[in-house]
Amino acid sequence: MKTYRDFDRYLKDFPDKNGYFGQYGGAFLPPQLILVFQDITAAYQEICHSAQFINELRRIRKEFQGRPTPVYHCSRLSRHLGKSQIYLKREDLNHTGAHKINHCMGEGLLAQFMGKKKIIAETGAGQHGVALATAAAYFGLECDIYMGEVDIAKQHPNVIRMKMLGANVIPVSHGLKTLKEAVDAAFEGYMKEYEHAIYCIGSAVGPHPFPMMVRDFQSVVGFEAKDQFVEMTGMLPDTICASVGGGSNAIGLFEAFLPEPVEIVGVEPLGRGSNVGDHAASMRFGSKGILHGFESILLQDKQGEPLPVYSIASGLDYPSVGPEHAYLRECGRIQYDAVSDEEAMEAFFLLCRYEGIIPAIESAHALAYAIRRARTQDTGAILVNLSGRGDKDIDYVFEQYGTGERFLK
Ligand SMILES: Cc1ncc(COP(=O)(O)O)c(C=O)c1O
Repeated sequence: MKTYRDFDRYLKDFPDKNGYFGQYGGAFLPPQLILVFQDITAAYQEICHSAQFINELRRIRKEFQGRPTPVYHCSRLSRHLGKSQIYLKREDLNHTGAHKINHCMGEGLLAQFMGKKKIIAETGAGQHGVALATAAAYFGLECDIYMGEVDIAKQHPNVIRMKMLGANVIPVSHGLKTLKEAVDAAFEGYMKEYEHAIYCIGSAVGPHPFPMMVRDFQSVVGFEAKDQFVEMTGMLPDTICASVGGGSNAIGLFEAFLPEPVEIVGVEPLGRGSNVGDHAASMRFGSKGILHGFESILLQDKQGEPLPVYSIASGLDYPSVGPEHAYLRECGRIQYDAVSDEEAMEAFFLLCRYEGIIPAIESAHALAYAIRRARTQDTGAILVNLSGRGDKDIDYVFEQYGTGERFLK
């Protein structure tokens, strides 16, 4: 078991040169893509050490995205719950409404540096799609976004946004028609045009170097939050938590806190319950396996085929998790828990009514975990990554739950 004291050099040492975090990660690719991914890794290594690239990314974050995003103390909600103080890192205030823009602008800069004409990706909740379509418009690139038909219906406002930004939204109609199938289809699309396109994966998943690159671009969230929290309260938070789909907002918040005496919790979707097909809690119910070109923890059947997944949050229903999360759980530094649709929706409505903030349903999962803790034990200060805003969700939520009166009694 490792403690926070073992993490001083972690960012420099992980992943190794083949993209492994312990036994997880790597790049399992068809032969024609091996050199392509080596080129992407080499280009990333070059630009991430270039002052010009770093300065340009800093300028974009400040002037275009609106960073730094604030840390906010939920004083009314904390008083209502009783036992802990809840704070939010307001990633919902990023341009385009979620943390996804943090890695999309970095990936856009990389695409430009590599002379690519098109960026390709999948999207679940539509937040990665909107952020990437935005990056494409900003850098003058073409953009193809693959999205499952179920998610297209559920996240309609984001579909319109992507189209307005000039992206080509390609519906995916096979299987469960959600995030995993969208990733399958985006990979297939990319295989046909890798010479002039780059696949900008939407989370800290996929073959090396994507889990590392997305982690690096997202780590701004935690480094900012740590300084802001200390400035605000004079201390570090006792606990930090974030929702985990593929794991990009979570790893972004967690990285800066790994070497600090802070409890870290990733929150997965338990959906309707623990039966196969009713949740997407990969860490709780999964085992080691390979999907989409990387090795991690996977919800799989006996033949190694991914199992069907479900969550009310379109951005969380993925049957695996980024390899760095699998490693950090294995070495005991991060714990993973799960919350149900019902708990997430209660958190959604409590944040609306007590703080005047409508969260993304994905982010409401992390908040629900903090609420559970605040009700049951004196946890001190909990910092939650509010990874996105709920504008994309309001039509669906209103249709299913009205204005949430039953959660507010
Ligand atoms: C607002 C928001 N939060 C969280 C997630 C989950 O993704 P990740 O685990 O990569 O942060 C998504 C995915 O679409 C999202 O839109």
